Amino acid sequence: MFVTRRAFVGVGAAVGVSYLAARGVTRLAGAPLRASAQSAGRDARLASVDGRLDVDLVASEDWVDLAEGRAKLWSFNGQVPGPLLEAAAGDEVRIRLTNHLDESTNLHFHGLHVPPAGTADNIFLEVPPGEVASYAFRIPEHHPAGLFWLHPHLHGSVARQVSLGLAAPLVIRGALDAVPDVAAAREHVLVLQDFALDRSGRPIDPGMGALMGGREGTLVTVSGQTQPRYAIEQDGLLRLRLLNASASRFYRLSLEGHAMHIIATDGGSLATPQQVDELLLAPGERRDVLILGSRAGGVYRLMNLPYNRGSAGMMGGPLGTRPPFASVGYEGRAASPRQVPQALGEVERLPAARARRAFVLSETMGMVPGRGMGIRFLINGHEFDHARIDDRVRLGDIEEWEYINNTDMDHPMHVHTNPFQRVGVDGQPEPAWLDGIVVPARRRERIRIRFTDFVGATVQHCHILDHEDLGMMSTMQVEG
Ligand code: CU
Ligand code: CU
Ligand code: CU
Repeated sequence: MFVTRRAFVGVGAAVGVSYLAARGVTRLAGAPLRASAQSAGRDARLASVDGRLDVDLVASEDWVDLAEGRAKLWSFNGQVPGPLLEAAAGDEVRIRLTNHLDESTNLHFHGLHVPPAGTADNIFLEVPPGEVASYAFRIPEHHPAGLFWLHPHLHGSVARQVSLGLAAPLVIRGALDAVPDVAAAREHVLVLQDFALDRSGRPIDPGMGALMGGREGTLVTVSGQTQPRYAIEQDGLLRLRLLNASASRFYRLSLEGHAMHIIATDGGSLATPQQVDELLLAPGERRDVLILGSRAGGVYRLMNLPYNRGSAGMMGGPLGTRPPFASVGYEGRAASPRQVPQALGEVERLPAARARRAFVLSETMGMVPGRGMGIRFLINGHEFDHARIDDRVRLGDIEEWEYINNTDMDHPMHVHTNPFQRVGVDGQPEPAWLDGIVVPARRRERIRIRFTDFVGATVQHCHILDHEDLGMMSTMQVEG
């Protein structure tokens, strides 16, 4: 069963509904787990059948296979990353979460446009140790195709739980997958995670300094492997779906000898592919890229280039990780030569905003539970408080937000429930759907966002998850 963390001041009715809905969930403790989920291997794919995605996830501490060894991590179903879930727009989703950890946890469905309340993407629910709780919701018919993901979101514990391995990718299938050259591409989901482990494979406590900068681990893994090689056919297309599931680490990726063609961002398809030589992937973000097998053969390294997110001094080490990181190797030749498609679908630009808001990102000194005095992180001068509503917005409205970063660190801001578009220097929104945006140190960024379909309390926060745990999250009430 679920328990609710706290009721919102002034929205008792809405919380009451979600609480009752949560209380109505059948308790399943002791019930046998479905074989499909239990026997799933590392490459397991748990897909919806007849419009229903029905999955058991068991969160527990285990020795799991990682890189070339074993590590004592926190996992879903004994694997890190968790199983690949796959559904389509319109599907019913039911996920039974069994908490075998010795502390509370919960689930966030990062990037999904589903209700922020009830048993859907409700981060105010808590699943205590030993309990089983069912998340249940429907993916809207008009939901875009894309790569999304699940991870715990219990304020104060998020960075630790995610950095110990609790993350699972979720693919929503749709129109983009039906574009012929996209459909013909070999597809891989690359879940980027970093781990701080001792020689025996046990996690190392990051210490206070690392919390301030955002913890990073020196072991970088790609879907649980180190330096995996992905096969590409000459004249063929390779589709790499990249997810940064690390607590704090940024990845600046570049593929030797090849351009990358971005076909989708966090929130789904672009109208036309965007050709780049490198891309930056902040925590939580996703990019879907096509690579054309334009070379005669060989192996090409996917590099993770240095990037200064403003915390290098605090981290006490060189910037970034050493390449190589993964590689792409030629194997065979495509039966028929492929091209990067020119058209992927329509993407609107959000029209003019009805309201404007500014969010100032800053720091202050304060107590860090269990660790003493340290830095706390603020939005508009406040630390997160689930009992306070920071912003009230109207369903159907479009707003333009400015993030003003008054700190010396980048903050990758993430907004739940509704995707947004970045506003360029020309004042026009860029036609790409995002749910995260890097606000560089001492800089500003603007976004345009539209609130559709769902009322209720939702949140935004920095996706350097230690910053979120240390206060950099705010609440927003979407009112009908
Ligand atoms: Cu997230
Ligand atoms: Cu931050
Ligand atoms: Cu979040």
